[in-house]
Amino acid sequence: MTIPNVTPRGFGVPGLPAAAPGTTAVTAVTPMKPASPSDPPADPPGASALPQLQPPGFSPESARQDIPILHRTVNGHPLVWLDNGATTQKPRQVIEALGAYYGAANSNIHRGAHTMAREATQMFEAGRSAVAEFLGARSPDDIVFVRGTTEAINLVAQSWGRDNLGPGDDILVAALEHHSDIVPWQLIAEETRARVVPIPLTADGAIDQGAYADLLSSRTQLVAVSHASNVLGTVPPVKEMTALAHRYGAKVLVDGAQAVAHFPVDVRDLDADFYAFSGHKLFAPTGIGALYAKPEILQAMRPWQGGGNMIDSVDFTRTTFAPVPHRLEAGTGHIAGVVGLLAALNWFTSFDREAVAAYESTLMTYAQQALAAVPGLEVIGSAPERIAVLTFTLAGHDPGEVADWLDRDGIAIRAGHHCAQPALAHYGLESAARASLALYNTSEEVDQLVASLRRLQEAPRAAG
Ligand code: ALA
Repeated sequence: MTIPNVTPRGFGVPGLPAAAPGTTAVTAVTPMKPASPSDPPADPPGASALPQLQPPGFSPESARQDIPILHRTVNGHPLVWLDNGATTQKPRQVIEALGAYYGAANSNIHRGAHTMAREATQMFEAGRSAVAEFLGARSPDDIVFVRGTTEAINLVAQSWGRDNLGPGDDILVAALEHHSDIVPWQLIAEETRARVVPIPLTADGAIDQGAYADLLSSRTQLVAVSHASNVLGTVPPVKEMTALAHRYGAKVLVDGAQAVAHFPVDVRDLDADFYAFSGHKLFAPTGIGALYAKPEILQAMRPWQGGGNMIDSVDFTRTTFAPVPHRLEAGTGHIAGVVGLLAALNWFTSFDREAVAAYESTLMTYAQQALAAVPGLEVIGSAPERIAVLTFTLAGHDPGEVADWLDRDGIAIRAGHHCAQPALAHYGLESAARASLALYNTSEEVDQLVASLRRLQEAPRAAG
């Protein structure tokens, strides 16, 4: 299977016009201004001691050149986007695909006996095939389109959970999970009188594997674990955890929201029962994501929402349902979102994924060493396997104040509880600052972050 080539000139679908008018130019971008006197020095203190970044087989410039927003300014400074954990920026291929879809191909799908309905359906299903290939799934039929990771997990909780959880059953949830991988389980546990049991963390922010092994029992029905933590960066040994869970007959749901943009995923190698991700964290539009489930599990899942697109026949005495995945996709889906996701997958998979992962790892090491030179800065989480997420506190400064200060220099980070309050509570914190990196970030941007933080430490009153 190959991912169909999607270009703004017709999505590889026969019959579309060559190019939709007005779809190639992105005009709402402020031109980058020359460096201002307050821009950080090119060589911030301590930088000379840092290792040189020599990405083998990948240059971040090859990604940056495709992303218009990275060439705008914020508060008079070139944008430094270090909030990739919240959302990633979009390549022009995705932006243009959306314009081309709405400009030349908009139609509902799976219905309507006309050319454009057939074309739109073909694009939508091409997106499903691309997601299946991206995740290493056996078949596009194993992929359900959803709004995002949150909806995917709620779908599993409400459909699979309602049929498979009961009084006395355990749902083991890693203590580093995002709220979207905690609350849906709490909601269904309350209804089914199952228990949500946290899997504790070690001091460095890894999942305590000994405690996990001890918690597993014949009562365990489901283990919910992130493939990468949004706040600690931890990459748990998901394959090993899954194998252990299966020995007890438990299913495993993997939240891949923070993983998919950072390293290759193979759901069959992981032997995951469920795998969820959001398109917008993978250079695609917001409002589209995917749930993978093993075919035998998916086949047995009952509808969680009713409406069009998910039925076989409707009668006031008896309604029958479409096969999966459509049975779990009620209503008109985010068709343009799927088109954008397809374009994003084509763009992202055009890079050497292993080289991207190696580059991000090197950039992470560079950032860790550079941040260590900032007085009073403490990074939260030090598990050996991590993605390029740096959550930190800065002595004397509230995380919100740190984010405001950086924003004045055009540097975007996230501050707050990161929708992972139990993970922060593990460190006795309610709030922290977070810089989260992606393939298009550079060591120069890390230098700018470090220089700005040093200025904040040198002139703390200016932050008020
Ligand atoms: N889950 C996203 C984050 O970590 C929103 O920022």
